[in-house]
Amino acid sequence: MKAITLLKKIKGKVKGIVGNNSLPEQAHSKKRIGERVTLSNCRLADHVSVGNDCYLHNVSLGSYSFLAMRATAMNTIIGRFCSIGQGTSICLGSHPTHTFVSSSPVFYSPYRQCGTTFSDGSYYDEMGTVEIGNDVWIGANAVIMDNIKIGHGAVVGAGAIVTKDVPPYAIVVGMPAKVLKYRFSEDQIQFLLDFQWWNKSDQWIRDSYKDFHDLDSFIKKYSDG
Ligand SMILES: CC(C)(COP(=O)(O)OP(=O)(O)OC[C@H]1O[C@@H](n2cnc3c(N)ncnc32)[C@H](O)[C@@H]1OP(=O)(O)O)[C@@H](O)C(=O)NCCC(=O)NCCS
Repeated sequence: MKAITLLKKIKGKVKGIVGNNSLPEQAHSKKRIGERVTLSNCRLADHVSVGNDCYLHNVSLGSYSFLAMRATAMNTIIGRFCSIGQGTSICLGSHPTHTFVSSSPVFYSPYRQCGTTFSDGSYYDEMGTVEIGNDVWIGANAVIMDNIKIGHGAVVGAGAIVTKDVPPYAIVVGMPAKVLKYRFSEDQIQFLLDFQWWNKSDQWIRDSYKDFHDLDSFIKKYSDG
């Protein structure tokens, strides 16, 4: 294949990855929004990316965070510096499993999920919320159930189903997700939680990015006294 034809082909592919912006949020050069993305009632900070085919409703996304392709999230606050893997689902909503005779929303919801409803109002709390701290990494195809809080620095393994809150800096895996280990020692975790580097200025973080490559020297450098 001639070099010029190959270049054109690569350029076409790169455009596909970066996306053709048509939503208002996409007009902002500091945000990268993929193709076929639905954003409703979302607040996106600067320097974020939302991959192809994502669906976000009532989501707040902090700076330097991203969702890879096919992620969905509803009623969710996501902190800064979070990485959310492809196919992850956050805050799914729920149907009643007890008390109500049927799990079908036609009996309790006004939202016509199947095109109609018998219900004159909302008789069941269908949606929860999720809070994701700062510097959280969620692996591909994880599921984060409603009303979950994920602490700062936590890691959710690929394919995990998170049904309980995740402590800061824990690594959780499996179905249902359980703590596999912690990323750092208790003292190191306490230092990071007190230091809150994610709230430093962009300039501070930019200037000190190399300090982030080794936790021991980071703590030594930024400990008082
Ligand atoms: C969770 C994860 C971060 C593991 O971190 P780690 O600290 O390096 O852990 P290890 O690889 O040493 O694995 C430790 C144990 O957990 C198991 N494990 C690892 N990842 C797992 C997962 N996602 N689900 C279930 N078990 C898992 C390993 O099999 C191993 O088990 P063993 O002790 O019985 O042998 C990683 O495996 C993972 O899931 N990464 C996500 C990758 C991804 O989705 N990337 C794309 C999105 S940006």
